[in-house]
Amino acid sequence: MSAWIFGYGSLVWRPDFPYVERRIAAIDGWARRFWQGSTDHRGVPGDPGRVVTLVRENGARCWGRAYRIEGGDGEAILERLAHREKGGYDRIVLDLHFAAPGAPARGFVYFANPRNPNWLGPAPLADIARQVRRSHGPSGANVEYVLELAGALREMEVEDAHVFALADLVKGEGAP
Ligand code: BEZ
Repeated sequence: MSAWIFGYGSLVWRPDFPYVERRIAAIDGWARRFWQGSTDHRGVPGDPGRVVTLVRENGARCWGRAYRIEGGDGEAILERLAHREKGGYDRIVLDLHFAAPGAPARGFVYFANPRNPNWLGPAPLADIARQVRRSHGPSGANVEYVLELAGALREMEVEDAHVFALADLVKGEGAP
């Protein structure tokens, strides 16, 4: 099998599966938001951290990285991605628009459904920043997750106002 997978969270800076090709890519009509609770990676049960998911938003564009996987491990990789966080993720197929010239490709995209048990939803950015600053889990500090993601997006020279504003806040550089 050969398939594209779109990463917009930790997969942007730390893909955890083998791939044969990687490209900067965007999906349209979806926004990246720190609205999913993490009780098994960046937080613990009863004191969840926050990780990104995707929410539908007219006119939005979310930049990330697309990975092409090939071969017999593909199904196992897709299955594992669906269960990355305890809540589980829904999978859809969307057009991936590559930063480099060329036609879009169809690719798998995972998002946390608001009905999953770890869903936290929107909150004022200052409250999200406080939650991120205090949260730690088996995969490390929640702050590290935010800063690694922001750093990777900056390196890719793509825009994400929500992520960059949160990164400034957790570093103590944003208002308030
Ligand atoms: C991510 O990009 O981090 C991600 C991708 C698929 C499922 C969960 C997270």
